[in-house]
Amino acid sequence: MRNQFNNCLLLSFFLLVLNSNELIAEEYQYSHRGPPRELTTQQAQVAEANYKKYCILCHGENRQGHVNDHAPSLRSKSLFESGIPHAVLRPLSYGREGTAMGGYLDEVGGPMTLDEVWNLTYWLFWQSGAERVRLSTRPVEGDIRRGERVYQQECSACHGKKGEGITGPALANPSALAHNTDEVIRYAIRHGRQDTPMPAFADKLSSKDIDNVTAFLRSKASGWTQEKTVLKSLPTPDQYIVNPNGEDPNFTLKDGMYVLSKDLNQALVENKKIVMLDTRVTSVWQTAHIEGSIPFPYYSDLDETVKDLPKDVQIVAYCSCPRAAADDVVNKLRRRGFNNTAVLWEGIFGWMNQGYPVTR
Ligand code: HEC
Ligand code: HEC
Repeated sequence: MRNQFNNCLLLSFFLLVLNSNELIAEEYQYSHRGPPRELTTQQAQVAEANYKKYCILCHGENRQGHVNDHAPSLRSKSLFESGIPHAVLRPLSYGREGTAMGGYLDEVGGPMTLDEVWNLTYWLFWQSGAERVRLSTRPVEGDIRRGERVYQQECSACHGKKGEGITGPALANPSALAHNTDEVIRYAIRHGRQDTPMPAFADKLSSKDIDNVTAFLRSKASGWTQEKTVLKSLPTPDQYIVNPNGEDPNFTLKDGMYVLSKDLNQALVENKKIVMLDTRVTSVWQTAHIEGSIPFPYYSDLDETVKDLPKDVQIVAYCSCPRAAADDVVNKLRRRGFNNTAVLWEGIFGWMNQGYPVTR
């Protein structure tokens, strides 16, 4: 009897502690929004074809994500519940600065029209089977310093001590913070991203701490504004070879495939004869590239494009870090008998980090 009473006391005590610390986030009530417009069969077919052509390299055949460059899942329920124009249309159109995610909208030099990026966004939504949630656009208030402690403890292992991204995306990325409202970020933290390593924190952290960490992330946004891009004209085949009268660079390739940034730079300084292929989406070539490189995106139709490439000149392909797009292009070129080919080991970010020049 006494024991039972003690147990009972103990239990109420625990419940009290639990309650007072709000260990578990209280459930928010979210209302739903109606679905966006449906696509015609033809629009859906084009969208699916665009997905296959442009996105599977990193986001995967089944939109599962994490195939290359830690590209996130494009089918997690919480992503599509929380905002298709913000969380999907914007990165798809304009890219995420400093990551492998380039912009695909023609306005920034990408291959898709505005209709096509909208249709692809909706196609992804319809594929996900999610229901849209109505989220407020008001800022989330919180204690930034407390949020930083929570961040370091719960999030930094995957997102990096400075939010630079490790296995999870960079959370201090100004272009991501510009595209995602506070509530979209909070929703991702509360619900996680289904079928990815991103856990749901609604049952691990209090509502307050989720707000605190959201406010902390927001405090890292540094006024990123969208500038209107003036497009450069693309090089024509007669401009493909850098230093057409130079000598062959004679690279020693790592693993029979890779050239180091220092060797490529040396060869350019010595006016060696080279063709450089920028295999990223063309919009990022517009933003910055290694001088003399030509846009040769991983999704280009090789039957069309290889005819302008010489077989007897050293070709070096590069992309963002690490090397997915460039590896893919060089493997395809080698299958077509272009054996004088190599991939830049460190990618263009590694090249820039070592202080080698790019044209902007
Ligand atoms: C070269 C690899 C690559 C390709 C190709 C690529 N992406 Fe991405 N994508 C990424 C990476 C990496 C990120 C995460 C960026 C970051 O760290 O914020 C990303 C982020 C995104 C996001 C934001 C998702 C989120 O959870 O925040 C969307 C939406 C997206 N990509 C859509 C697309 C679509 C649609 C295509 C095809 C048109 C595409 N991407 C092609 C690498 C790629
Ligand atoms: C075990 C690793 C891991 C931990 C711990 C983790 N995350 Fe993530 N997080 C990820 C991954 C991986 C993704 C990308 C998921 C995807 O594929 O969509 C992600 C995505 C996100 C996103 C969505 C980003 C976007 O652009 O859509 C936010 C916001 C986020 N995490 C915040 C946090 C916060 C805040 C914490 C700590 C409270 C945290 N994460 C802890 C791995 C982690």
